[in-house]
Amino acid sequence: KKRSLSGIKPTGFPHLGNYLGMIRPAIDLQDDFEAFYFVADYHALTTVRDPQALRQSVYQITAYFLAFGLDPEKAAFFRQSDIPEVTELTWLLSCVTHMGLLERAHAYKAARDQGIEKDINHGVFTYPVLMASDILIYDSDVVPVGADQVQHLEMTRDMAQKFNSAFGGDFLKLPEARVREDVATVPGLDGRKMSKSYGNIIEPLLPPKKLRKQIMKIETDSKGLDDPKDPSTCNIVTLYKLFASAEELAEMEENYRRGGYGYGHAKQALFEKMDEHFAPYRERFNAIIDDHNYLDDVLDAGARKVRPTVEDVIARVRQASGLGR
Ligand code: TYM
Repeated sequence: KKRSLSGIKPTGFPHLGNYLGMIRPAIDLQDDFEAFYFVADYHALTTVRDPQALRQSVYQITAYFLAFGLDPEKAAFFRQSDIPEVTELTWLLSCVTHMGLLERAHAYKAARDQGIEKDINHGVFTYPVLMASDILIYDSDVVPVGADQVQHLEMTRDMAQKFNSAFGGDFLKLPEARVREDVATVPGLDGRKMSKSYGNIIEPLLPPKKLRKQIMKIETDSKGLDDPKDPSTCNIVTLYKLFASAEELAEMEENYRRGGYGYGHAKQALFEKMDEHFAPYRERFNAIIDDHNYLDDVLDAGARKVRPTVEDVIARVRQASGLGR
């Protein structure tokens, strides 16, 4: 079997973009691929300063994956930091990676352009190298991600090639990003990419009342109840499309064009669809979120499952680069 690998940062609850762009696609691959998925707690430390919140978020994300159907018998689900060798490979990759490559990284450029350069720590700058190490240390074949991670995958391939050509051999395997077209960039409440940093997120497993409240905040134009509306430019329709059947979608589009159907109606329809979709997952999540022993068992077993691969790859790159005897 080929290997699928991906990671997610523990910076609070996952949002709808994480779910549709990565969590769902990743879980869907667990039958046909050997699945390795992890919570990127090292990466979160570029910003998080609250150890308790970090640990809690690791549990939340683990419970999310389990609630959504990750099968710990099939897939390995683990903490990034349970494999500290990933930081050793980060160093080896750093030594073959040009500053220029990292200066072109979107996340670093965005931080710099916002004029907060003095707040950028070295971890932010070197973030893509740690991420490349995450991927390469597991001999990964495919990496299910949203569109915002595609540049990181290109950089990963670049670093693997640099390492291989520097030391003369196929030591590191070149991975491929796998992006689902329809959910590559899930829009948030304001139509921009859904992202915690934009404050525009929908959290799918919230209790119904709170979920409804978030959905009611979706921004629209100011057309009145009676006005005909354009479904092709409306954010509510874009999200509805991801949950509704073809007939249900056609019906909403028809309502838009006809008029007499307000944005409030559309939001209510979206809420009902999402609530119906997520209710069973919410129940499963609530049943396990406080069982830290169980969640730790899952994470520990995941780390044990990936360890042989890690030891193999680390031995290979140490041998290749001249470290050790
Ligand atoms: P993170 O934690 O920001 O996001 C986790 C996953 O969710 C996807 N995603 C989205 N997809 C569609 N629409 C959106 N609005 C949206 N927002 C987020 C992301 O593309 C991602 O796949 N650097 C990574 C974590 C990471 C990683 C790795 C990923 C660390 N090491 C190795 C893959 C392989 C990150 O910050 O993702």
